[in-house]
Amino acid sequence: MVLNYRQIKNLGDRPMQDKVIIFDTTLRDGEQSPGASLSINEKLEIAQQLAVLGVDVIEAGFPVSSPAQFEATRRCAEEVSGPTVCALARAHEKDIESAGTAIGPAKSKRIHTFIATSAIHMEHKLCKRPGEVVKMAVAAVEQAKTFTDDVEFSPEDACRSEMGFLIEILTAVIEAGATTLNIPDTVGYVLPYEYGRIIGELAAKVPGIGKCVISTHCHNDLGMAVANSLAGVRNGARQVECTINGLGERAGNAALEEVVMGIHTRPDFFGKDRDKALTTNIKTTQIHKTSQLVSRLTGFVIQPNKAIVGANAFAHESGVHVDGMLKDRSTYEIMTPETIGLTGSRMVLGRHTGRHGFSDRCKQLGYKLSKDEEEQTYERFLQIADKKKEVYDEDIAALVNDEIHVVEHTYVLEHMRVVIDTDTTPKASVRIRTRDVVQEAEAEGDGPVDAAYEAIREATGHSPKLENYSIKAVTSGKEALGEATVKIKSDGRVYIGRGISTDIIEASAKAYIDAINRMVAAQDKGEEPGLKAEL
Ligand code: KIV
Ligand code: ZN
Repeated sequence: MVLNYRQIKNLGDRPMQDKVIIFDTTLRDGEQSPGASLSINEKLEIAQQLAVLGVDVIEAGFPVSSPAQFEATRRCAEEVSGPTVCALARAHEKDIESAGTAIGPAKSKRIHTFIATSAIHMEHKLCKRPGEVVKMAVAAVEQAKTFTDDVEFSPEDACRSEMGFLIEILTAVIEAGATTLNIPDTVGYVLPYEYGRIIGELAAKVPGIGKCVISTHCHNDLGMAVANSLAGVRNGARQVECTINGLGERAGNAALEEVVMGIHTRPDFFGKDRDKALTTNIKTTQIHKTSQLVSRLTGFVIQPNKAIVGANAFAHESGVHVDGMLKDRSTYEIMTPETIGLTGSRMVLGRHTGRHGFSDRCKQLGYKLSKDEEEQTYERFLQIADKKKEVYDEDIAALVNDEIHVVEHTYVLEHMRVVIDTDTTPKASVRIRTRDVVQEAEAEGDGPVDAAYEAIREATGHSPKLENYSIKAVTSGKEALGEATVKIKSDGRVYIGRGISTDIIEASAKAYIDAINRMVAAQDKGEEPGLKAEL
C-alpha cells in the first residue's frame, strides 16, 4: 500500500510538512562502523561541518557508554550552533540521566531513547516480556521529558516486530510525551515496498501520531537503506536518519548524500499528489566537502563508483557518452557536479603561480588558513609544483589537509632510501628527527613499504599494529599525487595517519609516521581509549 498525498493528509491532525528533517548520525551510528574511531576534536570538526551542511539534528553520541563519549557529546552541545544536538540513551535511568546532562548546554536539544520490540530481541537479548518493555519505554520518555521537550523514541528492530505490539508501544510513548517516532530497520532486513507499507500503516493506525514526526532509520545489509528511507518518506515519514558516506554498523546506514540528492533531483516524484515538492535544509554544495572530511578523519576511503560522492560519480568515459555530453549535458547527467560542490572550473595551478593566486584559490575552495598555515602550505605547493607540472583543485585539497591537520611533529622523516630489484629482498633506510636527536635505521621487508615501515619502527622505537593500509591517486595521470592512509592500533585505540607525495613509497612512510605522531600526542595528553560507543 503506497499512500498518496490526500490519503496521508487525511490521517488526522498531522501538519503536512514540506520539509524532510535530516537527522545525521555519523557521529553515533556511523562511528559504530568497525574500524572507525574519532577523537573528540575530530568529532567536533565533523559536527561543525554538519552545521554548515545544514543538517537539522546531529546525534552526537551515546554519553553513558564512556567518559569520552560523554565529553564529545557535551562539547558538541556547547560549541555547535544551528542544529539540534541529540544524545542516545537506552531506556535506562542512568542512560537518560547521562544523555540529559551531556546535551544540557545546547540551545536546541533532544534525547533519543530506544528499546527493542521484536520477539527475537525481547526474548533473547532483553529477557523481558512485552508488558515490561512498554513500561520501560514509557518511564524512559517521561524521564527524558524532564531534560527537554524534544524526545525521540525508537522501537529497536521495529521491522521484525509485530505490528500490533508496535502500535501499542508507540501509542504509550506518545501519551508519555514522545515527539518523534523513529522506526528502525536495525538489521537491514526489509525491502522498500514493505518499509513503505509499515510507515503508512503506523501513520494510519497509531492514535495521536499526527502530533509527532515519523522518522526512518534504515541499515544497508541488503543494500536497501536509501531506497527504504525514501519509501518511508513517500508514505508519510518526515525525518530521515542517515550518515555521511553511508557509514555505520556492518553494511552501514542510509547515506545522507543519496537521500538528499534523491529528494532534490526528483521533485516530480516527491511532489506528486502534493501541493508542493518535499525539500530539505541541506546546502547541497557542501556535500562533497563534508564527504571528503568524514572520509579523511575516519580513514574510510570512498569507493570510486559510490553514488553522488565517488570519484567517478560524474566522470564520463565512453565515446558515446562524452559525445552526448558535449552536445547537451542532460543526455547523461541527471544532476550537475556543481550541485554537490564540485567546482565546475578545473583551474590548474603550476610552479609560476604566485602566493596571491595560490591563496585566492584556497579561499575559493573554502579553506580559511592563518598566515602561518598559508605560508607553510605555499612552500609545500611549490615543492609539488616542481615535480608535477599541473596542480589541480584535488591536489590543493589534499595538500591543505595534509599540512593543517597535523599534530605536533614528534617524528619527522628527514631522509629515506629504498632499494628494490626483482632478485633481492627490498631494503629501506630512514633518517628520522625526534626533537633534537636524529635516529637512523635500516631494514628489509616483504616489499618496499614493508621495509620502510620496519625501518621506521626501529628508528622511532614504536611498533603499533598496522590495521589497514590504502593508497589512492588524488588525480589521474602518471604524475598524480599519491595519498596513503594507514590505521594503526595501540592499547585498543585506532589512530589514522595520512601522507601525500608524488612518490607513493614516500607517501606511505609519511602516513605511517603521521599515525605514530598522533598516537604519541594522544598518549602524552593521557587521552583515554574507548571513545567509540558500544551498544
Ligand atoms: O539501528 C538501530 O536500531 C539503532 C537504534 C539505536 C535507533 O541504531
Ligand atoms: Zn542503527
